[in-house]
Amino acid sequence: MTTKKTWSDRFETALHPFIAEFNASISFDLELLEYDLTGSIAHAQMLAHCGIITEEEAQQLVTGLEQIRQEYRQGEFNPGIDAEDVHFAVERRLTEITGDVGKKLHTARSRNDQVGTDIRLYLREEINQIRSHLRACQRALLDHAVNHVETIIPGYTHLQRAQPVSLAHHLLAYFYMFQRDWERLGEIRVRTNISPLGAGALAGTTFPIDRHYSASLLGFDQVYPNSLDAVSDRDFAIEFLCSASLIMVHLSRLSEEMILWSSQEFGFITLKDSCATGSSIMPQKKNPDVPELVRGKSGRVFGHLQALLVLIKGLPLAYNKDLQEDKEAIFDTVKTTKACLQAMTILLREGIVFNVERLATTVTEDFSNATDVADYLAARGVPFREAYNIVGKVVKTSLAEGKLLKDLTLEQWQQLHPIFAEDIFEAIAPKQVVAARNSYGGTGFTQVRESLNQAQAMLDS
Ligand code: ARG
Repeated sequence: MTTKKTWSDRFETALHPFIAEFNASISFDLELLEYDLTGSIAHAQMLAHCGIITEEEAQQLVTGLEQIRQEYRQGEFNPGIDAEDVHFAVERRLTEITGDVGKKLHTARSRNDQVGTDIRLYLREEINQIRSHLRACQRALLDHAVNHVETIIPGYTHLQRAQPVSLAHHLLAYFYMFQRDWERLGEIRVRTNISPLGAGALAGTTFPIDRHYSASLLGFDQVYPNSLDAVSDRDFAIEFLCSASLIMVHLSRLSEEMILWSSQEFGFITLKDSCATGSSIMPQKKNPDVPELVRGKSGRVFGHLQALLVLIKGLPLAYNKDLQEDKEAIFDTVKTTKACLQAMTILLREGIVFNVERLATTVTEDFSNATDVADYLAARGVPFREAYNIVGKVVKTSLAEGKLLKDLTLEQWQQLHPIFAEDIFEAIAPKQVVAARNSYGGTGFTQVRESLNQAQAMLDS
């Protein structure tokens, strides 16, 4: 049995030790410590600003809180389970340092608005960090893209060869996904950067506080206009988990392609030793563990999103202890998303080589120029559906003969349709097939170069 009581004199006995541990969040919410200190400093300064405590008392509180920050950074602040959570741990240590003044810090505040403030400060900072990791990953993609405008790879639909595309175009598709992620996080940051501080436990406070003052000290752009909403809102956290889930979806798709591309069947990329792993039994193996892990870790982030949605959906207003469960989901999502973005950036920068020669031959070995033959006829007046059928027939006979479209002679082309001329050979060469798709947003080299400039400008802005 713990002897020390956390609660007021309303309680006669201490918590059952198992329940104390069950109830505590200190084992994980210490992650919020620096934000808790920053929030408390602003609260103390606001109390003095409004004449609720003296300037001198506020100064003592601020000095004490800064001392805790130093202790923490030096590894000397290690509260045990009896502290329950980070907020109590700080208040207890502050009271040890400052004496009775420390007991004034919690005037006109509750742990409910306090914890809400802490998570928002934490998430605001982590959103900034994830956005810069996204930028680094986009830069790595762009650097490859710039070097591979005229490298042609098979483009797929249904994982069947469809039409060849510029490798740069393919990589830029991921660039734009991450661009949306970057923008989305910026929008979510706006709704995260709102101050709940001063909402109290749920109803506001009897003290003449100035919520806008503490909010501005903390760099919040707005103040929650409703105290009940302020302490119970976790929409911003759900939006964040949703946005992180989309980042993981994008990373996972890119990973999947890298896994396929590095297989013997595709052979489009080779993994460098620094980013690949071996097998414990098969000496010839080189495994794409990094993209596989990224793909695998996406699952836990989606799980956290689901967990938080379910956590909130049945909660009556206002604060409920269930909300303590939001933290591990948020923290793990932040850590996982950051780590996966970093791993992918390293993989892109140092871990892969595009097998340009293999790609160059690969794109000449299929029928992915068939649409171009149909387009050739259609551009010369043959109705497209008719042209499509003619080419379908050629593909069928060529397949039966083990030939490709490039193997047909001019005579054979002209037997199919008299409109075919010498320029059909150029029209179906992979370079021309790609170059010709010059519609806006298409894979034509001119479009891709335009897109590269646009992407560069996005990174510069
Ligand atoms: N550890 C708590 C949490 O994470 C802090 C708020 C506790 N508030 C309360 N009324 N018990 O949600």
